[in-house]
Amino acid sequence: MKTISVGLIGFGTVGSGLAEVLLSQQERLEQRSGLSIRLAKVADINMTELPPQFSGTVLTNDAANLINDPEIDIVVELIGGIQPAKTFVMDAIAAGKHVVTANKALLSQEGKDIFAAAAASGVEVGFEASVGGGIPVIKSLKEGLVANKILSIMGIMNGTANYILTRMTDEGIDFADVLKDAQELGFAEADPTYDVEGIDTAHKLAILMTMAYGMNITHNDIVTEGISQVEPVDIEFAREFGCRIKLLAISRNHGEHVEARVHPTMVPESHLLASINGAYNAIHFTGDTVGNVLLYGPGAGKMPTGSAVAADVMDIARDISCGSVGRVPSLSYLPKEIQDIPITPMEELSCPWYFRISARDEPGVLAAIAGILSKHGISIESVIQKGRQESGPVSIVISTHIARESSVLAALAEIDILEVVSSPTVKIRMLDETAAAID
Ligand code: HSE
Repeated sequence: MKTISVGLIGFGTVGSGLAEVLLSQQERLEQRSGLSIRLAKVADINMTELPPQFSGTVLTNDAANLINDPEIDIVVELIGGIQPAKTFVMDAIAAGKHVVTANKALLSQEGKDIFAAAAASGVEVGFEASVGGGIPVIKSLKEGLVANKILSIMGIMNGTANYILTRMTDEGIDFADVLKDAQELGFAEADPTYDVEGIDTAHKLAILMTMAYGMNITHNDIVTEGISQVEPVDIEFAREFGCRIKLLAISRNHGEHVEARVHPTMVPESHLLASINGAYNAIHFTGDTVGNVLLYGPGAGKMPTGSAVAADVMDIARDISCGSVGRVPSLSYLPKEIQDIPITPMEELSCPWYFRISARDEPGVLAAIAGILSKHGISIESVIQKGRQESGPVSIVISTHIARESSVLAALAEIDILEVVSSPTVKIRMLDETAAAID
């Protein structure tokens, strides 16, 4: 039986998960490929020995030792971050190795260089684990949905943020308290910035948009707002409007331009994404031929992510064995077809809105607010005002019909300087269910 040798850089959570998957599924992988997939070498600067079950694998502290080993067919990068990960990946490609990575930050920022180098060297780059953990989202987009113009992408792509929002919703507790708890339980990183500020989600959306539309995009092109400002009171009001607050990645394809945004969104409880709870991820595509597709599963974790990395290793091993390397372009589109497509300016976007205005409870306040909204062409859908306070401001909570972002910003700038308004208005975009399919 032909052997395919794998070199793994980084034996952390996902790296050790991959090693365990390759070991526990060895026989099944052989039955499904006719190949022996061997974890030949591991490079990790923090280890002095591997667990005993990996006695057949060589441990090194030097990634170059593995990258330059002529026996290694596939280099798997699982250290994360931009450097030295990019150097290792580029060196591996230059050495003629196929590469597998789960590194969404690297791909969303440096993907252009990496995929150009891979195309020039005639090697494959697998990155299934970079989006949606164990969910086969990359393969679905690249292969299962290949006969579709992708009209929209929408999803919950960060398990940490979804876990925090779920607990805030179920238990009515503050963001900071849930975050602290999540860190103690090991759900959230010591530095949770990327997860809670939407940056990790933007990395993932950039990767999906590149593949869905055949476009150049980095996460820096995506308007990104996180969940750290979401308050329990807004979650409670969302419930009264029949919605849940979720951190969504949203992109709609308008042909000449495409939307790209990550922000907290009020999702109607009737929508499938509203029921995705805890650390789970879900990605919703609309294709012009298939219609709506929802992929759901574990967005992180040692074994689910190990499963996704192993799937990439198998794909490449099969291609090597069949002499069909490059059969499926890494980014779905041929490299020469990937183009620049403008991103829709945020001010041009339209959706229904939620506003929470803090104002004194006096005659004429609601009329003044309604007048400003009306002047900017914003139509009110409903208003909630809780009973009069003894003293201090009350919350006037408004949901609107579809309104343009530029009109909303202009209207709120006027509302927030009213003498009766005591603090900046909280605004949250609501999901426009009619907009999943495009103009
Ligand atoms: N940090 C990510 C999350 C997992 O919380 O979903 C890996 O993508």
